[in-house]
Parts: sequence; structure tokens; C-alpha cells
Amino acid sequence: MNPFTSQGSYPSVRLRRNRADDWTRRLVAENTLSADDFIWPIFLKEGSGGSELISAIPGQARVSLNELIDHAGRAVELGIPAIALFPATAPDRKDSQGSEAINADNLVCRAARLLKSTYPALGLIGDVALDPYTDHGHDGLLRNGRIVNDESLEMLAKQAIVQAQAGIDTLAPSDMMDGRIGALRKALDSAGLTDIRLMSYAAKYASGFYGPFRDALGSSSALKGDKRTYQMDPANSDEALREVALDLQEGADMIMVKPGMPYLDIIQRVKSTFAVPTFAYQVSGEYSMIKGAINNGWLDPHKVILESLMAFKRAGCCGILTYFALEAAEQLKRG
Ligand code: PBG
Repeated sequence: MNPFTSQGSYPSVRLRRNRADDWTRRLVAENTLSADDFIWPIFLKEGSGGSELISAIPGQARVSLNELIDHAGRAVELGIPAIALFPATAPDRKDSQGSEAINADNLVCRAARLLKSTYPALGLIGDVALDPYTDHGHDGLLRNGRIVNDESLEMLAKQAIVQAQAGIDTLAPSDMMDGRIGALRKALDSAGLTDIRLMSYAAKYASGFYGPFRDALGSSSALKGDKRTYQMDPANSDEALREVALDLQEGADMIMVKPGMPYLDIIQRVKSTFAVPTFAYQVSGEYSMIKGAINNGWLDPHKVILESLMAFKRAGCCGILTYFALEAAEQLKRG
């Protein structure tokens, strides 16, 4: 039986009836957005020079630790459950091994200690990957022109431990090495850190939409070549399901798809196949496209921001990493 024709047809059926009034529209809405759905990515900078705006990500800033409490406090006030921290590392602290990643006193660790002592209930998500710290800009270790997998895992596991010990409660590996979730879970378990959550960037594509982020961290000028030997090919969809299946087996608690809007089909397949907590990252390039058009007067922020975020809920996400987190939460609060 065709489920559509068995429901009757016009003129007895008129779908506009349920759209006729605000109250019915609200009652029949299949998805909702609230501040609970957002994770706000925050960029950190060294020194006490104050925050500086990032030109490629309009409205977002690199924040120094002396201003971080106020900055993150805006998310706390709006009821945003978690923030994700990304460090802009000074070039003189970068080397070929990404050694600064495993320094227990690095920028992310200092930020985590500060934030946890001030806002113990705010979720802290730490990026696990070497690119902010390597002079070649790659997420793993480079040997003879290749990104080596298993040696990179050892560094990533150490990076995870220093972050978790500093107060990061959710580690989000974005490096796309094979076996990283298992390696991190094993390292965390042997350090007795069994409650640390792993939000895996399971299906992370080799995307041009990360451009503004790499500018924000200064890793685009550093990057030698591209990331296509470890990030996924935008042509692939079945492969994303294999990535997710492996990460779940290895101990991931949450799954992320990245970028977001160009990959809504992947989100929907992941959610309907695995029925696990699924997130999307509305990445810097997606944000800057929309924000740039808003700043030019071409799009109405009161319409497009929440519409872009609702798309993720419709596709099956339980939450979204988005630079719009504050603006969206403010809009929802105002109603
Ligand atoms: C790197 C990382 C990237 C982003 C988050 N973590 C960029 C990359 O893979 O080069 C991108 C986020 C964004 O564009 O907003 N580990």
C-alpha cells in the first residue's frame, strides 16, 4: 500500500490547515531548537594582550586567558551546555613533532584549569590533533613526506591525557588517524580516566570549508600539501558509515560529522543506521558564508541563522558545534 495515496487527497486533505495559525504550527513542529543544542567553539591566544577579532570568521575572536572567563561566561548565562577550545599556538612553539600538544601547561590545559575552577558545570571539549602545534600544519606526524599513522597515535594519546588531567571532560579527536578512538580509550582507561567522553570526528571530510579556521589558528600558512591522505573524500558516503562503526566499536560516546550543511545526507545516514548521539560541526567556512552575507545586508540574520541550525536537527543531530551559538541562543531567548 502506498502510504501517501492511502492518506486521501485534495480537496478533503488540505495541508495548509495546520499551517494556518501560529499555535497549530507550533503543535505540529517535528523539531525544535534550544540553547541545549549548541556547542560554541572558542579560539584561544597566548599572552594578556586582550582579544583580537578574526577577520575570516567575522564576529569571532581569539581570546586571551585574562578575558576567557568573561567570554565563556556569556555561553554559561545563555544556558549553552559546552564550549570547544582551539589554541592559536605561537610559531616559536611549533615543531615537527607537535611537542607543545603534550605539554601539560600548554594554552588549552591552562584554559581548561581556569574554566573548570570557575564554571564546573560547563562542558569542556578539547580538540585532539597535532595541527595547531606542528610546523608543517598536519594533524599527525610527518615522516619522509607521509603522515604516519601508528606513531601519531602515541602522540595523540599523550595529548588526550594531558587535556583530560587539566579538566577537559570530552575529547574530540579530529585527526582522522586509523585506530585513534581505541588508542585514546585505552590510554584513558589505563590512567583511570574512565569518565572522559570521546566525541569522535568520525566522518571528517577533506574540505575547503575549513579555510577560515586555519587562518584563525595560523595553520594555513604552515600547512604543507593537503589532508587528503587522512580526511575523507567528499565523494564518499558508505565509507562514513564504516568510520562511524569502527569508532563506536573502539569506544566513542558521540559521533560527529564535519562539515555540516554540505553533508546533511551523511548525518541522516549515520543517525538512522546507528541511532547514537550524533553531532555536526557547522564549520568556519559555512559560518563565514552566512555571516558575510548578513553583514552585506543580503540575508536576514533573524531568518537564516536558526533555519541553518534547524536543518541539522531535522537531519538527526542532537547537537551542533556552531560559531552562531551565542547569537542563536540570544534569538531563541528573545523569541
Ligand atoms: C583540525 C581541525 C580543523 C577544524 C577543527 N579541527 C581544520 C582542519 O582539519 O584542517 C575546522 C573547524 C572549522 O573550520 O570551523 N584538527
